[in-house]
Amino acid sequence: MLLPLYALLVIADCVAAFNPSGSYAPANVSCPEDASFVRPASGISESETEWLKKRHAITDVYLAEFLDRADLEDFDAQAFLELLNRSINVGLAFSGGGYRAMLNGAGQISALDNRTAGADSHGLGGLLQASTYLAGLSGGNWLTGTLALNNWTSVEEIISGDTIWDLEHSIINSGGINIFSTAPRWDDISDAIQDKQDAGFNTSLTDIWGRALSYQFFGEEDDGGVSLTFSGIAQFEPFPNAEMPFPFSVAVGRAPHTRIINLNSTVFEFNPFELGSWDPSLYSFTELRYMGSDVSNGEPTSDICVQGYDNGGFVLGTSSSLFNQFLLQLNTTSLTGIVYDLIHSFLTNLDEDSDDVAIYHPNPFLDTSYAALQTIVESEYLFLVDGGEDYQNIPFAPLLQPERDVDVIFAFDNSADTDDNFPNGTSLSATYDRQFGSQGNGTSFPYVPSMDTIIAYNLTEKPLFLGCNASNLTDLGTIPPLVVYIPNIAYTTWSNTSTFKMSYDNDERDAIIQNGFEAATRYNLTIDENWHKCVACAIIHREQERNNITQSDECAECFQEYCWNGEQYTGDEKVLARSLNYTSSSNHEVSSISAAGADGSTSTASTSSQSTSSSHNAAVSFGPSYSAGFIAVAVAPMIGLMF
Ligand SMILES: *[C@@H]1O[C@H](CO)[C@@H](O)[C@H](O)[C@H]1NC(C)=O
Ligand SMILES: *[C@@H]1O[C@H](CO)[C@@H](O)[C@H](O)[C@H]1NC(C)=O
Ligand SMILES: *[C@@H]1O[C@H](CO)[C@@H](O)[C@H](O)[C@H]1NC(C)=O
Ligand SMILES: *[C@@H]1O[C@H](CO)[C@@H](O)[C@H](O)[C@H]1NC(C)=O
Ligand SMILES: *[C@@H]1O[C@H](CO)[C@@H](O)[C@H](O)[C@H]1NC(C)=O
Ligand SMILES: *[C@@H]1O[C@H](CO)[C@@H](O)[C@H](O)[C@H]1NC(C)=O
Ligand SMILES: *[C@@H]1O[C@H](CO)[C@@H](O)[C@H](O)[C@H]1NC(C)=O
Ligand SMILES: *[C@@H]1O[C@H](CO)[C@@H](O)[C@H](O)[C@H]1NC(C)=O
Ligand SMILES: *[C@@H]1O[C@H](CO)[C@@H](O)[C@H](O)[C@H]1NC(C)=O
Ligand SMILES: *[C@@H]1O[C@H](CO)[C@@H](O)[C@H](O)[C@H]1NC(C)=O
Ligand SMILES: *[C@@H]1O[C@H](CO)[C@@H](O)[C@H](O)[C@H]1NC(C)=O
Ligand SMILES: *[C@@H]1O[C@H](CO)[C@@H](O)[C@H](O)[C@H]1NC(C)=O
Repeated sequence: MLLPLYALLVIADCVAAFNPSGSYAPANVSCPEDASFVRPASGISESETEWLKKRHAITDVYLAEFLDRADLEDFDAQAFLELLNRSINVGLAFSGGGYRAMLNGAGQISALDNRTAGADSHGLGGLLQASTYLAGLSGGNWLTGTLALNNWTSVEEIISGDTIWDLEHSIINSGGINIFSTAPRWDDISDAIQDKQDAGFNTSLTDIWGRALSYQFFGEEDDGGVSLTFSGIAQFEPFPNAEMPFPFSVAVGRAPHTRIINLNSTVFEFNPFELGSWDPSLYSFTELRYMGSDVSNGEPTSDICVQGYDNGGFVLGTSSSLFNQFLLQLNTTSLTGIVYDLIHSFLTNLDEDSDDVAIYHPNPFLDTSYAALQTIVESEYLFLVDGGEDYQNIPFAPLLQPERDVDVIFAFDNSADTDDNFPNGTSLSATYDRQFGSQGNGTSFPYVPSMDTIIAYNLTEKPLFLGCNASNLTDLGTIPPLVVYIPNIAYTTWSNTSTFKMSYDNDERDAIIQNGFEAATRYNLTIDENWHKCVACAIIHREQERNNITQSDECAECFQEYCWNGEQYTGDEKVLARSLNYTSSSNHEVSSISAAGADGSTSTASTSSQSTSSSHNAAVSFGPSYSAGFIAVAVAPMIGLMF
């Protein structure tokens, strides 16, 4: 069907959150006059700048309330904030790690959300409303993307309803076809992919993966958000009203025909306005809404441009493309259409180098002039992969850009680094190291304890503050934000499920979400009743330093308790990752917590059985265990075990 262009434009104006085609196929629209979609990454976009003014008017109010509630000694929140000639920027980052990361992250974010019952009285309620930025990666991005693309819904609203996050049925079942129990779903997915191909666009496994995920995140309406776009976030009321933080989805660039990913790779951010990278290897941003248009140096090559390419599920699938390869386990005999064709061609070509790739074609950065390296800008294709594949499993990059001027980052780490799927801070080291390489480009990250130190000194048993003392950071490019690292800790349920556990019944799901709340709040402020005060101390700290305001004794005590003191473990003894679990942990009331855990569906027994296969889990955990040959060596046997 060919609609006249003006008709498409009218549709585009009415429902701009959605693809004007109303389907998965990108749509032709007239190009804006004098269009030039690419700009250098020399600063934040005008759109972001304008938006921030509105957001800051709101975060200032919520931050004052949050600080008031913390009731710090010798501290008048209102007077303090008025004294500053800027707004404090709080950034939140949610790590990857499949549904484990999504669910733990959900509990953690709900602890900061003043819409959650109990968050104000025994949590960090209001901090989400006081935050400027929100970054998600892979599984963490399933969380942040679900919230942002569902009109800024809340975790509590999601789990009290029954339209999304029904994880009971795995997207892929062992040996079987099925998806969430209805085979026709695959036909819909197949049709969507076919629509995109018919419109003349390349597709990859990531398209299928993104479509499949979308039914869990966007529900049945609009056929699983088939026409919902990531740039469409900007059209839901809470965004233009600046009632939500500015969301990022993080992915990594992969050079054509390579599989190796290291700290030289290009880190990309999707935000509601743009896609691009601050790294010198690209140093450009393009207008997200017009991706899919044929361009050269950011300028359209004809009058016809494209919209609707940036499908929401496709972006979430891109950030989590490592999971694509599960599709190769589908029993193709029971599949039909384009899904069958695509999966079959991957299976028969054994094209391992690209089965985790999201293809973006045409490349919006073709022939642009701001990049220090030619690799990306001379390719017809832009290849993006899972945001965790460069070992930086916590999406710090967008929050570390000096242009964004972030004061404090709350980093929620739900990675599976240790044998039993807890984090060990590996991704902190990766981000720390990156600042000194050719892609660092003026970003800074505080000094970090080594992985051995983290394990040997039990630093993941509670939150950890990094970069507490700016005067010790002057050797770095710039003074980085203070980092509040909050690891996954098991309090009332086994929150260390495998990255590749693909189905959760509602009890399991809700138990992990509850545990996430507890991990973010020091067990609902029972382990440390001053935790929310300490968080307040962390938030105001950089501005106190800038203004030569001496920290109160109360805050100094908090810093004594939570800041890393710089000591590294130097013992010769090999540090073995210990199983952290709430029955063996001694810093809180074990019996009552165990009792609480007993209500949940997960038992110690089930966790032990999970530990049995843990050596496999470790080999494929998100983070530095990636390597070339990863699929063949580690994942293939893994998939056999999991499904
Ligand atoms: C969109 O425009 C391109 C030319 O730029 C054309 O090849 C294609 O058929 C058009 N698609 C639709 C659906 O009109
Ligand atoms: C969240 O905080 C705002 C500002 O104080 C308040 O208006 C709103 O009622 C709070 N929401 C809930 C659910 O408590
Ligand atoms: C901690 O607080 C959350 C949110 O109010 C609640 O759901 C959970 O049951 C509490 N945990 C315990 C152990 O009381
Ligand atoms: C989105 O949420 C806002 C409240 O934040 C509400 O006023 C609006 O009607 C919602 N829009 C849609 C499309 O649900
Ligand atoms: C694949 O599906 C077909 C038809 O549904 C079934 O007969 C066959 O046993 C399945 N194969 C495997 C390996 O599960
Ligand atoms: C990263 O890039 C720099 C400069 O281009 C180069 O010297 C270095 O060898 C690269 N490192 C890796 C691990 O590829
Ligand atoms: C930390 O995690 C990484 C994998 O993410 C692993 O290679 C390393 O051995 C772990 N170290 C310790 C001490 O647990
Ligand atoms: C960052 O990279 C760009 C592009 O290579 C360069 O122009 C700029 O000077 C760099 N900034 C810093 C602070 O190194
Ligand atoms: C770490 O925790 C273990 C188990 O609780 C304990 O035996 C050990 O002494 C702790 N190490 C340090 C340095 O606190
Ligand atoms: C803070 O103190 C330092 C050194 O004592 C001084 O250079 C700086 O100007 C002071 N800053 C403010 C904002 O007073
Ligand atoms: C202080 O700086 C030194 C480098 O000058 C670094 O090795 C150390 O880890 C830093 N301490 C902290 C607590 O960050
Ligand atoms: C948890 O700790 C208890 C007591 O130390 C131990 O018996 C159990 O094996 C541990 N569980 C795991 C999964 O490590």
